[in-house]
Amino acid sequence: MSNKRVNDSVPSDRQKKKSYFKSKAIQAGMGLVVGMTGFYITSEKGRERKSVKEVISLLSKNVEKMYPEQSIYADQKETDQKETVKDETAKDEKKEKKTLDSIEDMVKAELEEMKKPKRRSIFEPIYTSMACVSFISCPKSINVVDLIKKIMVDTATERKKDTRYTSRIVPIQTTCPANLSSISESVKAIGSPLVDFPNSTFMVVAKIRNNGNITKEEITTSLGTMFSSHKVDLNNPDFSIIVEVFRGNCIISILPDYMKLRKYNVTSLFSDGFAQPKPSVNEKTE
Ligand SMILES: *[C@@H]1O[C@H](CO)[C@@H](O)[C@H](O)[C@H]1NC(C)=O
Ligand SMILES: *[C@@H]1O[C@H](CO)[C@@H](O)[C@H](O)[C@H]1NC(C)=O
Ligand SMILES: *[C@@H]1O[C@H](CO)[C@@H](O)[C@H](O)[C@H]1NC(C)=O
Ligand SMILES: *[C@@H]1O[C@H](CO)[C@@H](O)[C@H](O)[C@H]1NC(C)=O
Repeated sequence: MSNKRVNDSVPSDRQKKKSYFKSKAIQAGMGLVVGMTGFYITSEKGRERKSVKEVISLLSKNVEKMYPEQSIYADQKETDQKETVKDETAKDEKKEKKTLDSIEDMVKAELEEMKKPKRRSIFEPIYTSMACVSFISCPKSINVVDLIKKIMVDTATERKKDTRYTSRIVPIQTTCPANLSSISESVKAIGSPLVDFPNSTFMVVAKIRNNGNITKEEITTSLGTMFSSHKVDLNNPDFSIIVEVFRGNCIISILPDYMKLRKYNVTSLFSDGFAQPKPSVNEKTE
């Protein structure tokens, strides 16, 4: 009897294991990986998985349209080619043997389908411990800014959308450690839209989550210095530098039309179309 009580108060191996994995997952920097390209998704609370799934299907559809030469499957180039060849010979065979029993054909086709390995998408979901926040990674060969801009513009002009649980889809051009020097270096590396258009205006949109080592003001000041020959415009900038820290990592993008595209909020563009930003107010940076 007394034995049992002692056992009750000591955590079982299973409980220990559980809490170990839980804390490990939370420490893991939200699943973001340094150097990662992809998307930052905000979803209806409790619908994160459904949201990520619908976004991956939306991305795949648009990649197939915009970049027909880009496979939406990972590591499938060789298999793809082989399969096309096989498909064509299969078609020819079908034509010749039209008289063959169709049920037998169907069964055979189904078995073939089952034998095919399950294909892995180039878009990989990354779920986080934060409500409403998920990420999707993708290869660097995808121009994430062009892809998302097209989806946002289409949503606002056609006033139709394929998503139900998703608010924002923000491109991630790169991911870096959440410290000032890494952030500056990363912005410099992808800063070409700003550098290429010396007359363009910009603003910095910084947000810090779960990290007391760095502040919004430090980031804004540091990037303002980097682009001191450009003008800041907080109402309708040509480019917005998005810097969002999630614990130890930081996602970065330089996005066009951030205000007009309602901060890349697909729900908002669907219901209200393009935003009409306030007239530009240029501020010279120091
Ligand atoms: C910032 O992070 C990079 C990469 O982890 C590291 O090499 C560098 O020392 C860090 N800098 C500061 C000031 O912490
Ligand atoms: C920047 O704007 C000024 C004034 O409008 C113009 O003279 C100049 O050619 C522009 N420079 C570039 C690189 O676009
Ligand atoms: C903040 O800095 C301390 C000391 O360098 C480090 O141990 C800690 O992991 C940092 N926090 C985050 C969220 O990066
Ligand atoms: C996106 O827009 C919708 C509709 O305007 C709004 O309710 C929602 O809060 C926005 N989501 C985010 C994450 O800003």
